[in-house]
Amino acid sequence: MASRRILTIDNAADLAVLKQVSAPVERVDDTLRALMDEMLETMYAAPGIGLAAVQVGEPVRVIVMDLGDREATPDTEEQAAAVRRPAYYVNPEIIWSSDETAPYEEGCLSVPEIYEEVDRPARVKLRYLNSQGEQVEEEADGLFAVCIQHEMDHLQGVLFIDHLSRLKRDRSIAKVKKAAKAA
Ligand code: NI
Repeated sequence: MASRRILTIDNAADLAVLKQVSAPVERVDDTLRALMDEMLETMYAAPGIGLAAVQVGEPVRVIVMDLGDREATPDTEEQAAAVRRPAYYVNPEIIWSSDETAPYEEGCLSVPEIYEEVDRPARVKLRYLNSQGEQVEEEADGLFAVCIQHEMDHLQGVLFIDHLSRLKRDRSIAKVKKAAKAA
């Protein structure tokens, strides 16, 4: 399995890809599963808890997430693997969302080192295909709800900073560009 480069907003070519609306997946097959495994490896290495395919330059409606035991402090690669709970979402749709919203301080691997509070529906109901191509309906709340809505935004070319005020958004972009230049 290969790790992929994560696209970031400081790079104009990357940003153009991140702004694309991702295309629906036609078939969940071994090629798609290989992409999802690469996405997971990339996400674990970053490290992060969610990744949309467009973030590795593949604008298709695929998300991987792992909200497994976040309190665990594995010492070895084996222990790290044992606490992993990878989840796969193909062609996800939100079929219901709560009127009640909740704030959460979000970050994004494509917007490195920026953390800002975003309000989103506190609970959502999802419909998606899993890694075997089976249709699943599931309700999400807490961090799961935050993460899946953040990742689904990526499929529409929307970044979490697009939910901020113009001032905060511009400031975030400037910070990412400055940090990239310094690196
Ligand atoms: Ni993100």
